[in-house]
Amino acid sequence: MMLHLPPLSLYVHIPWCVQKCPYCDFNSHAMKEAIPEQAYITALLDDLRQDLHFAQGRELHSIFIGGGTPSLMSPDAIKRLLDGIQALIPFANAMEITLEANPGTVEAGRFAGFKAAGVNRISIGIQSFQPEKLTRLGRIHDPEQARFAAEEAALVGLNSFNIDLMHGLPDQSLSDALSDLEQAIALAPPHLSWYQLTIEPNTPFASRPPALPEDDILADIYEQGHALLLANGYRQYEVSAYAKLGFEAQHNLNYWRFGDYLGIGCGAHGKITLPLEGKLVRTVKVKHPKGYLEDNRPYLDQYWPIKPQDLSLEYFMNRLRLFEPIPKQEFHQLTGQCASVLEAPLTEALRLELLNETEAHWQVTPLGRRFLNRLLDLFITD
Ligand SMILES: C[S@@+](CC[C@H](N)C(=O)[O-])C[C@H]1O[C@@H](n2cnc3c(N)ncnc32)[C@H](O)[C@@H]1O
Ligand code: SF4
Repeated sequence: MMLHLPPLSLYVHIPWCVQKCPYCDFNSHAMKEAIPEQAYITALLDDLRQDLHFAQGRELHSIFIGGGTPSLMSPDAIKRLLDGIQALIPFANAMEITLEANPGTVEAGRFAGFKAAGVNRISIGIQSFQPEKLTRLGRIHDPEQARFAAEEAALVGLNSFNIDLMHGLPDQSLSDALSDLEQAIALAPPHLSWYQLTIEPNTPFASRPPALPEDDILADIYEQGHALLLANGYRQYEVSAYAKLGFEAQHNLNYWRFGDYLGIGCGAHGKITLPLEGKLVRTVKVKHPKGYLEDNRPYLDQYWPIKPQDLSLEYFMNRLRLFEPIPKQEFHQLTGQCASVLEAPLTEALRLELLNETEAHWQVTPLGRRFLNRLLDLFITD
């Protein structure tokens, strides 16, 4: 059977921030001077033009403008970008268009400008509401600016907005973490991403590690924070993602359902199904803004087919982050692999009660969510 073409999303990377946060390993650079906004939008649209053959007749299902700090771009630049994208690839009806914002860059009227440009969802990186935690995290905003940004997002009439919070912060107590969540919930975001701080290699936090909470405090934070979110009407639909019913992030759902995505901008990653060639490929664009902005260059830096023996792990690594049932026929449709390759790992996962199954679906169990890495290990082939 031919590979099935899944929905297509677009990720757009904006690689600049006011300053670099010490925990962050995203491809972002502290701004030394004004952003070359117009030149970058021109390059992004050229980059998309070079990727157009990957669309294979599909319309766009969602766009995510991430970073970095996309809210540093002017609403006019975002409008030029979105109009330019739509001139190249048609938009699906009612599609989600998200822009990531840092509260330190949100003056009055900015979100209304992004909305007028076509953005209908804003994701605000708040991280914490405690001034001393924000300072430890190297953030450029205070709690007041964070609240202002969330209130603006609620006011301008977007389809949805998200707040990013982190927990397990340096010297964080259980009550610190719960108070952060309560303050976020009070702002009524339809979506809340709640990430545990991880110490990433090659960051200032990795070279000078801060004192993080003990494991039993981390466990209490997770358990009680999770219960607080559920008690306030949020549903956990992914490891770190909570949403009111119907407000799950369509863009992220497409990644986790093993959909396709184009990635444009510095260092952006893409994943594309090529049914005629019978393969799935990954793409990575030129990473550094200086190289990316050179004239007349190919933006593609790396391109490789996913090895057939890696497909089951890659599929389940995404799919099992979501707690929804997984249709059994989908694996074959999206990877082209014969379902028999799953026999041994699935038998073991069912025996260990990390997964359960019905005639038509598999679904991760509460135990499987807790031991997700153990479950994924079963799909590693050597
Ligand atoms: C791509 S970042 C960018 C958002 C935006 N630049 C900001 O920081 O306001 C998306 C989110 O990932 C989370 N994040 C970044 N680094 C992290 C880390 N080391 N551990 C856990 N979460 C992290 C933060 O919550 C952040 O808001
Ligand atoms: S503002 Fe966001 S992307 Fe920029 S350095 Fe901080 S966490 Fe990373």
